[in-house]
Amino acid sequence: MSSMTISRRTNAVKGMITVPGDKSISHRSIMLAALSNGTSTINNFLTGEDCLTTISAFQAMGIHIIQNDSEITVHGKGLYGLEESSQPINLGNSGTTTRLLLGILAGTPHHYCLYGDESLSVRPMDRVTIPLSKMGATFDGNQQGRLLPMSVRGGEVQPIEYTLPINSAQIKSSILLAGLFTTGVTKVVEPVPTRDHTERMLTAFGVDIGREGNTISLRGQQQLEATDIEVPGDISSAAFFICAAALKADSDLVVKDVGLNPTRTGIIDVLKRMGATIETRITRYIGDEPIGDVTVQGGPLNGITISGADIPRVIDEIPIIALLASQAEGKTLIKDAEDLRYKETDRIQAVVDILHSMGVDIIGTEDGLIINGKPSTLKGGEYHSYKDHRIGMMIAIASLLTDEEITLQEPDCISISYPSFFAHFDQILED
Ligand code: S3P
Repeated sequence: MSSMTISRRTNAVKGMITVPGDKSISHRSIMLAALSNGTSTINNFLTGEDCLTTISAFQAMGIHIIQNDSEITVHGKGLYGLEESSQPINLGNSGTTTRLLLGILAGTPHHYCLYGDESLSVRPMDRVTIPLSKMGATFDGNQQGRLLPMSVRGGEVQPIEYTLPINSAQIKSSILLAGLFTTGVTKVVEPVPTRDHTERMLTAFGVDIGREGNTISLRGQQQLEATDIEVPGDISSAAFFICAAALKADSDLVVKDVGLNPTRTGIIDVLKRMGATIETRITRYIGDEPIGDVTVQGGPLNGITISGADIPRVIDEIPIIALLASQAEGKTLIKDAEDLRYKETDRIQAVVDILHSMGVDIIGTEDGLIINGKPSTLKGGEYHSYKDHRIGMMIAIASLLTDEEITLQEPDCISISYPSFFAHFDQILED
C-alpha cells in the first residue's frame, strides 16, 4: 500500500493559480463529440484518470480519438456510429462515464459488457437502468441488474417523461442522451436544479433542447454537428484551495479561468454565508459556459445550515466544507445529502471517521453531518484516503491545521480528478 507524508503548516495561502479542466464537462465533450458528425477539438481537457477512462471506452467502440496532452481530437461518427466491442469495456472508477454511457448504449443497437473497479462495482446503477429500461433497453448485471459487471442490449428506444427521484445530473443526462435516439420528445423533470452541462453542451453541438420551469425537453433524432470546445477550470478542484485560503487568516488567493456555471457555484455561496471574503468575476463565456476568476481571503468563519436545493450545487464539495466547518465558530448542519453514501466511497462515514480522529466534534446522520466547530489545531497521524480522490484531497488540506505530520495512505487516487494537486498546493503556500 502506498503512502506519503504531508506537512504543510503555513500562515497563508497566496498567489494565483489555474486548476485543470472540469471533470463533468470533459466527460461530456468526448461523448457528444463521438456522437456528432465531423471532427471536434477539445482544449484544456482534464487528463485525470476518470476522463481518460471515457476516452478509452469510446476508442473501444471504434471512435478515433487522438490525445496530445490536454488537447483532444475526436473524429465523430454520428448518432449510430458506435461499433460493438469484442472485449468487455473497463470503466475504472468512473460513475459519470458509466451512467452517461448507459444512456447512450440504451439507444445503440448493439450488445456491450461493462465492468469497473471495486468501488464502481458497488455503486448503484439501477437509478439509470430503471428509466432506461422503461425506454426499451435491456440490462442485466450483478444483484438483479443493480450493479456492474453489467450487460446492455440497446436498440429502438421510446421517449419517456420522467421525474428524477434523486437530485442527480447523472440520471438526467443519461435519460437525455438516450432521448437523442428516440423518435419523439423525452422530458425530464428535476424537482431541484442539478448541474446542466449536458444541456448546455448539447446546444453547443447544435441540438435544440428546451427548458420550461423544471422540465427539460429534447426531441430525438437531431443530428449533432462537430464543434470545438474549451473546458473551463474545475470549480470542484479549485474548491480545495479556495477553502484552504479561507482557513488561513493572512491568505489572498486568486483562481483564474474557472467554470462559474451557477449550478456549480454553491461552494462560493456557502463560503459567503460562513463569513468568508470571496468574490467572483465572470470574464467570458465558452460556448454556453461562464468562466472567470475567484478571489478569496482568509478570516473568521461561522457555522451554517446546508440543505435542500443547496445540496446538488455542493455535492462534490461536502468533504472540504466539513473540514472548513470544523474551524468555523458554532454548529454546521448538513442534511438532505444521503446520496453522499453512494459516491466513490460512503463520504458521510469517511468524513466522520477521519475528522473525528483528527479531534473534530462531528457526527454523521443518515443524510448528512453535524459539526460543532471552533478554530483549533487538528491531530496529525495516519489517515486513509478510502481510495476516494476528494477524501484524499480533504486530508491533504487538513495538514494546514496540524502541528504533526499527516501520513496519507493511498494518495494515488487523487489523480482521478487532479493529477497536479500537490504541485499546485506547493505553489500557493507561503513559507
Ligand atoms: C456529476 C454529477 C454528480 C457529481 C459527479 C459528477 C456529473 O453526481 O457528484 O461527481 O458529471 O454529472 P450526481 O449527479 O449523481 O449527484
